[in-house]
Amino acid sequence: MELKGVILAGGLGTRLHPLTKVTNKHLLPVGRKPMIYYPIEKLTAAGVTEILVVTGLEHMGDVVNLLGSGREFNCKFTYKVQDEAGGIAQALGLAENFAAGSSVAVILGDNIFQADLKPYADAFRKQSEGAKLLLKEVADPERFGVAQVDGDRIVGIEEKPAQPKSNLIVTGVYFYDHRVYEYIKTLKPSGRGEFEITDVNNIYIQKEQLKFEQLSGWWSDAGTFRSLNKVNELVAKEPPQ
Ligand code: DAU
Repeated sequence: MELKGVILAGGLGTRLHPLTKVTNKHLLPVGRKPMIYYPIEKLTAAGVTEILVVTGLEHMGDVVNLLGSGREFNCKFTYKVQDEAGGIAQALGLAENFAAGSSVAVILGDNIFQADLKPYADAFRKQSEGAKLLLKEVADPERFGVAQVDGDRIVGIEEKPAQPKSNLIVTGVYFYDHRVYEYIKTLKPSGRGEFEITDVNNIYIQKEQLKFEQLSGWWSDAGTFRSLNKVNELVAKEPPQ
């Protein structure tokens, strides 16, 4: 199955103000590289060569200046503007024409992790339809989408619950078949006014088409000062790449 890549690098980055007042969160430094290099390198190492980068209008120029055609990364970039930060599912909806019937591996631009993505991507390539999530145990699940698991099934996901039912969270690494756009079109904005990726994942659960694996190695988002610092510390301990 052909697998294309999508990196979602929109949003307002308000939790990192004033660092993100004049630039995009995903251009901030992590270790020796801009944050967005990490998801790109994970995708290319997993054999994904066509990558869509979605970001807001304000910093699209800088993102394109940084990344270019993709030649430096051994891949081919396509760019799409998300007009307003209407949520992760809305940003992913912009990938429909790019995907052109192929499945996609989606990485949130502020997710940094240690493991090689290839085994997970290869497992999804063998899965003929549906979606696949990578879960991770964390100490602060209330900040994330929280999964309730029964054996080898996810029975439900709650977005940022006050009382999490588990400490297994949904990382920002997702695999979807071509049906995801159909499902996104049925969504309504959440209480915080966003089209939520958790609602998309719950649709796949209803259809009994959601698989998961636990992501090995360390993982963190980098959307708050605390998590950005943590990611910098984790990356500093890795051998230079
Ligand atoms: O990091 C994993 C978590 O990411 C998941 O556990 C949650 O279920 C998921 O909703 C998301 O939670 P956050 O609240 O941390 O997402 P945030 O708004 O910080 O957005 C994460 C990335 O998604 C951001 O770096 C860029 C992209 N994004 C976000 C929005 C709201 C877009 O491209 N467009 C958007 O409109």
